[in-house]
Amino acid sequence: MPTEAKAGTSESQIGVHWREEPLTEPPGSFVSQANMSDPSVFERFSEKNFPKCFEEYADLLTWDSKWHTILDAGNPPFWKWFVGGKLNASYNCVDRHLTSHGSKAALIWVPEPEDEPTRIITYRQLYDRVNEFALLLSEFARLHAGDRVTFHLPMIPELPVSMLAAARLGIIHNQVFGGFSAKACAERMEDSKSTVLVTIDGYYRNGKLIDKKKEADVTVTEAERLGTKVEKVLVWRRFPGQYVSEAPMVKGRDYFVDEAMKPFSGKTIGPVSMDAEAPLFLMYTSGSTGMPKGVQHRTGGYLAYVAGTSKYVQDIHPEDVYWCFADIGWITGHSYIVYGPLALAATSVMYEGVPLYPDAGRPWRIAERLGVNIFHTAPTTIRMLRKAGPDEPSKYTFRFKAMTTVGEPIEPEAWRWFYETVGKKQAVITDTWWQTETGGFMCSTIPALSPMKAGSAGPGMPGIYPIIYDEDGVEVPAGQNRAGNICIRNPWPGIMQTIWGDPDRFVRTYYSKYNRNKESKDWHDWPYFAGDGAVLAADGYFRILGRIDDVIKVAGHRLGTKELENAVLATPEVAEAAAIAMADELRGHVPVIYVALKPGTSSSKELEERIKENVVKELGPVARPRLVHIVPDLPKTRSGKIMRRLLASISDRTDYGDVTTLANPDIVETIRRQVQAE
Ligand code: WT7
Repeated sequence: MPTEAKAGTSESQIGVHWREEPLTEPPGSFVSQANMSDPSVFERFSEKNFPKCFEEYADLLTWDSKWHTILDAGNPPFWKWFVGGKLNASYNCVDRHLTSHGSKAALIWVPEPEDEPTRIITYRQLYDRVNEFALLLSEFARLHAGDRVTFHLPMIPELPVSMLAAARLGIIHNQVFGGFSAKACAERMEDSKSTVLVTIDGYYRNGKLIDKKKEADVTVTEAERLGTKVEKVLVWRRFPGQYVSEAPMVKGRDYFVDEAMKPFSGKTIGPVSMDAEAPLFLMYTSGSTGMPKGVQHRTGGYLAYVAGTSKYVQDIHPEDVYWCFADIGWITGHSYIVYGPLALAATSVMYEGVPLYPDAGRPWRIAERLGVNIFHTAPTTIRMLRKAGPDEPSKYTFRFKAMTTVGEPIEPEAWRWFYETVGKKQAVITDTWWQTETGGFMCSTIPALSPMKAGSAGPGMPGIYPIIYDEDGVEVPAGQNRAGNICIRNPWPGIMQTIWGDPDRFVRTYYSKYNRNKESKDWHDWPYFAGDGAVLAADGYFRILGRIDDVIKVAGHRLGTKELENAVLATPEVAEAAAIAMADELRGHVPVIYVALKPGTSSSKELEERIKENVVKELGPVARPRLVHIVPDLPKTRSGKIMRRLLASISDRTDYGDVTTLANPDIVETIRRQVQAE
């Protein structure tokens, strides 16, 4: 990690110093059964076989008609994959498994209340539900291929059902994470011009029944204010026949899914054969500026990439019980709870609730009872479980063969607990580095073929050629202990297509920084800029340091500092705001807000609380600031740029370095004294 953060120093110029971690070999029991144990994969996916190598992933799918061109790179950076090919994602994840796996569990859903029975949904039952809901979308909601539909759903099996039903008809789904506010949902509906909202009456989280339908009403009002009229709200019910929300159903707008679906009971609708390049879904994610961007993923390339990586990195075999403990509202859930595992006919476990409910043994009881043997989660969950119950895993008899960590850097200490105590030294670990934009894993070890290194994601995946550039676009070679910006030199099938409705922003954000020639039709001139700092060790393993832009990661969730600041500015007393990420033992980072008030207003605890509440109202509970510091002024450069990094080092109590070049250097010490005394 960077040892100091001087004002104006860019991430890529900071030297990095840490102890090189030893390599750990994968257990023999894992290697002997692995899907990918043939080292020739590296040769097959080497640059001289690019892009043909990716046919190996596409061949895992069933195509209605075969592609004529693997990669069309004629209009950089708008790559096209498996051009001319046709397929349906829902068919690939459901229908084609019916003959051999019809009565096998596709989804196992564990409700949060421990006394509520687990629900098992076989591939046959999934097929029935998906068809009925697809009929509802088509015949009742009148949606067609290419239309957008928005879901604001928690971790319930109706979410994958809704996704697969939309995919069946080529309707582009847009799932908004349940922890985002009604307002955030409305903005995403407006941006994607989506007029149908799918929600649920309520769900359990941390022992409480959350009223979700209430939020839908706010979403509708907000969307309307922004200019999008929501025609229909389709409401799933958490308990059959009951209604657990306090919000009234609005006549002519709100419909219970179970009632509206009755006419379609037992009926089917054929999957629509979609172009490989047809958009499959949108996922909004935070960037450095303004409104979150709608990351648009394609059908063929995306599905091929997540199926291939689920097979070779997650090592999913049909007989495995695979549990990805993430939320489907994030890309991890789309790729590695729903599309990847189901394309492989896996049994995918879903859990409704939080890790520590009702106690730190819960995840291990679930794993034991269901016979989970592949476990996939985030460092924040690992830290939380370790803190609350370091010895809990040894009390249960589950046995994992493979485990994954994703979403933020993992400290070697936490990694070792995961390996020794959770994995019982018998499970291989993959630390997968990737992003919403990349669709699937970018860096990871291939578990049977390369040793693990605590805290390092590993080399580029087969067919992925990462590189580190300094600010000037000069390659930072391996083994120099020097950080830089990690980029991917080549296109790959899982890469996003564009930003919904804003192709210029797509080019600007991901390609303009290191593009060598705007006119070039050669993909070699268009490296993908990921926005992360990283270091490449001599052995070819990448260690990811974190975001270099104004994006912060809170418990693995991605938030924009600009979004947070805009939310803070909704409080009338606030003149200026700066959002920073403060280091936190469990959550990795937490949002902390620094504000300067308008003249004539004064600071108070009540105001701090109101600012926090406003952020929750604007963005959702996931963004709640840990602390709000009301300070006399914010430190700025002479050109007026707020020095967030400096504020972060005050919060983290690290040395903030030389500030003499600032417009108002004296304020820094004033703020430090105030904050560190609080
Ligand atoms: C950002 C992307 C990847 C799916 C979930 C998050 C950070 C992701 C790792 C890892 C260190 C990681 C990066 C990246 N990140 N995986 N294994 N080690 N950092 O997707 O919300 O789009 O966030 O998460 O900073 O840019 P996302």
